[in-house]
Amino acid sequence: MGDITKISESVYWVGVKDWDRRMFDALIPLPQGTSYNSYLVQGNEKTALIDTVNPGFEEQLRQNINRYSKVDSLDYVIMNHAEPDHAFTIQSIMNSVPKATLITSEKGAKMAMVQYDVPEERIKIVQDGDTLDLGGKTLKFIAAPWLHWPETMFTYLVEEKTLFTCDFFGSHTAAGFYSDEVEDLIPMAKRYFGEIMMPFRKLGAKALSKIEDLDIEIIAPSHGPIHRNPELILEAYKKWTAGETLEKVIVVYVSMWNSTRKMVDRMVQELVRAGMDVKVFNLENSDIGDIARELVDSRAIVLGTPTVLGGMHPLAVYGTYLVKALKPPAKYAVALSSYGWGGGSIKQAQEMLSGTKIEILGAIDVNGPPTDKDYQDIEKLSAELVGKIRENP
Ligand code: FEO
Repeated sequence: MGDITKISESVYWVGVKDWDRRMFDALIPLPQGTSYNSYLVQGNEKTALIDTVNPGFEEQLRQNINRYSKVDSLDYVIMNHAEPDHAFTIQSIMNSVPKATLITSEKGAKMAMVQYDVPEERIKIVQDGDTLDLGGKTLKFIAAPWLHWPETMFTYLVEEKTLFTCDFFGSHTAAGFYSDEVEDLIPMAKRYFGEIMMPFRKLGAKALSKIEDLDIEIIAPSHGPIHRNPELILEAYKKWTAGETLEKVIVVYVSMWNSTRKMVDRMVQELVRAGMDVKVFNLENSDIGDIARELVDSRAIVLGTPTVLGGMHPLAVYGTYLVKALKPPAKYAVALSSYGWGGGSIKQAQEMLSGTKIEILGAIDVNGPPTDKDYQDIEKLSAELVGKIRENP
């Protein structure tokens, strides 16, 4: 077998795999690490590097480039996205290769100047549809803003039908090189979509429609495996960006003395009996990436929280805040709560979810452990929720 890092006739993967990383943005757990994919494109006359790598891997990137070319011979550095996991190393490359020009979007240019000290005269701004000739190889730039920063763009290598999309179509895993070799690719990609792209899914849909008629053989994102059979990930992104939901309920809860837990358990039992796909997460020990993944296509959310000092349990505040920030396509929510000596969490949950498109169908607040009457109320609320879920695909 040849060198698999040569992904097409003129493109080499020169990125790094970060097997050890376990957190991203001090927020997102990375159970399988991640990769920072950087690509070297060699034309007959010019050489371009597409995106770079995270701080700490500068030397590895240089070594990888030098295996195929020479860092000093780079003519262009393409910045599809300015976040440091892809753009940080631009500064050292631009400093050590005086002839290199940075190619990026208008917004990207400002970010490169501010964040990476790239002088304005060394930046070439490209607009949607602009092309760059490398000598027999043409790079075409496609504006794809807000995926997930304002400056993002795609780069398309016309002759080799390869689309470089940076974060879009990515996944946080160091495992595998091509996506068809990765068993859990779709769950990993879905988790990544939920964490990073879900709040921007309308712009994601717009970007997808722009590339709909493009002849694509390879999608090369800047995290995770490369898609040499891109149909699967394109199909998945069509559904996810459209906000298609299933007869599925995500239950996120926390309990202190088991009363909230008992309420949640009964609700879950009822939903399962009604044939719903139910995913349950105890916020005390759940990975928020898993929650983000299940929010991608859940039609309803059940929130369970005790009242602590007149409000929601802090873990439930965190969970609810995340739901609000990630803007999932869920249509309905219900809240379940118990309190020892004073309520308040239901009111806070309602306040926190106001301003979202999620309709709160009902809330049950119980003093102490649930009674038979409370269980009956939970069953009624569950039936109402199931009815709504079935009515509104
Ligand atoms: Fe992977 Fe938005 O950077």
